[in-house]
Amino acid sequence: PRTFYLTRHGQSEYNLLGKIGGDSGLTPAGTEYARRLALFAKEYIANDAEEDPSTGEEVKTARPARLWTSTLRRTKETAQFIEHNTIHHTYDNGDTIAWMQFRPMARRNLDELYAGTCDGMTYKEIEKVYPDEFERRQRDKLAYRYPRGESYMDVTLRLEPLAQEMERTREPVLIVAHQGILRILYAYFMGLDRKEAPYVSIPLNNVIELTPHAYGCNEKRFCLMA
Ligand code: F6P
Repeated sequence: PRTFYLTRHGQSEYNLLGKIGGDSGLTPAGTEYARRLALFAKEYIANDAEEDPSTGEEVKTARPARLWTSTLRRTKETAQFIEHNTIHHTYDNGDTIAWMQFRPMARRNLDELYAGTCDGMTYKEIEKVYPDEFERRQRDKLAYRYPRGESYMDVTLRLEPLAQEMERTREPVLIVAHQGILRILYAYFMGLDRKEAPYVSIPLNNVIELTPHAYGCNEKRFCLMA
């Protein structure tokens, strides 16, 4: 079955400083995560493993797979070690096509929730400089819109076309994005209530595997940095 793999970027300079938003690069730990993600993609997503009935041995065949990042540095850097190779894929009807496995596609819809005038600040700084804003966000995180920025509702709307595209996609998709974005995609595919979405736990250093079935998704989480 088709499967989605969701992951945040590796630890960024801003994550380390507790700042939100921005366009910082990865820390050394973040780069290590990028290497481990590349290995995970190669060993776990890139191939179909089937048993050869005559020998009982496991045979691996390369399969088409997609790779989407946001347009921000930290997700592109997280995807940088994932190998993209041309593979040949044969459909059940015998047609064979050439396919660039994991060809990286940067998608603006996947950029993190934009915090407007608060972009680049820590939560502590926001609380100090804009105490009313901070309070309003605590009260209604879903509807709260940062000054000159976005709300989770705004993000939900801009992700809708992408979620629909995911539903139509037949190949596994590895998505390297951001906490706020992945909360919304996760809630959409798991059928969670909108109100819950802004609080879903999407930790760094983990890949979430979602396999859609009739009424929701099977979920598996892989922690790549113990
Ligand atoms: O701190 C990382 C981050 O991705 C920020 O860039 C973003 O504003 C935040 O998480 C979203 O989380 P929350 O909505 O809980 O503040």
